[in-house]
Amino acid sequence: MPAVEQFPIEIIAHLKSCRSVTVLTGAGISAESGVPTFREAQSGLWARFDPMQLATPQAFHKDPQLVWDWYTWRRELISASKPNPGHLALVLLEAYFQEFNLVTQNVDGMHQLAGSKQVVELHGNIFRTRCSRIGCTTTEQTLPSASLPLCPECGSYMRPDVVWFGESLPAEALQESIQAASSCDVFISVGTSSLIEPAASLPFIALQARANVLEINPQVTPLTQEAHFSMRGKAGEVLPALAAALMRGEGK
Ligand code: OAD
Repeated sequence: MPAVEQFPIEIIAHLKSCRSVTVLTGAGISAESGVPTFREAQSGLWARFDPMQLATPQAFHKDPQLVWDWYTWRRELISASKPNPGHLALVLLEAYFQEFNLVTQNVDGMHQLAGSKQVVELHGNIFRTRCSRIGCTTTEQTLPSASLPLCPECGSYMRPDVVWFGESLPAEALQESIQAASSCDVFISVGTSSLIEPAASLPFIALQARANVLEINPQVTPLTQEAHFSMRGKAGEVLPALAAALMRGEGK
């Protein structure tokens, strides 16, 4: 656990005095739950496939069963994982701040599983499926079936309700995340390589709106130079330390 002293005291004081915080998470926050990050090498059967080639409408059109099988493998991997202290710390922060917006690029549902109440899913959710033709969705209570399901309405193939490369993001989620980035006092980017748009622009929207921007990532990213403070660390260690520092001592 990093020493809380690593957080500049002025950051803790500023956070204690601010009203609104927006957090953007990426695959890195689920890394300590054992969910591989997006650009990490795939393991086992799927090692020979490039996610950037599978997570596309073209791949689904060409071989819907292959793409469905890949998502089934990912869903099973995620279902065997559980939220880590980083996810749980964000639940505490959601209760701590007067206004707290959590925007995630992840499709693993881990934030909701941890107890976060209000989550903006920019890239969808791997446990939801939708008709590839008319778009009606189903939220699976259990793991979706291994065999490629057909739409109960029109008989077309169902597909994972996630954003594929070349597809646009859900308009409402994107609007909500831009609003959350442009109206917060502090924006915290956690566990994202800050490479994929439009999510990668959110911290810069916050900077333009004169918010304080913090980053938590073991690696340097394109945001690191621009953030007011960038902590080289793991989400599962840094976020609990941050929550502890805020909860310590007198109130806000
Ligand atoms: P990436 O795999 O691009 O980046 C994961 C980031 O997490 C890297 O910067 C790692 O350094 C960092 N990281 C690894 N372990 C960490 C830990 N324990 N704590 C904190 N950070 C850690 O994943 P994303 O940035 O989320 O889009 O990728 C963004 C989008 O690119 C994904 O949502 C996906 C992909 O294209 C879609 O699927 C549409």
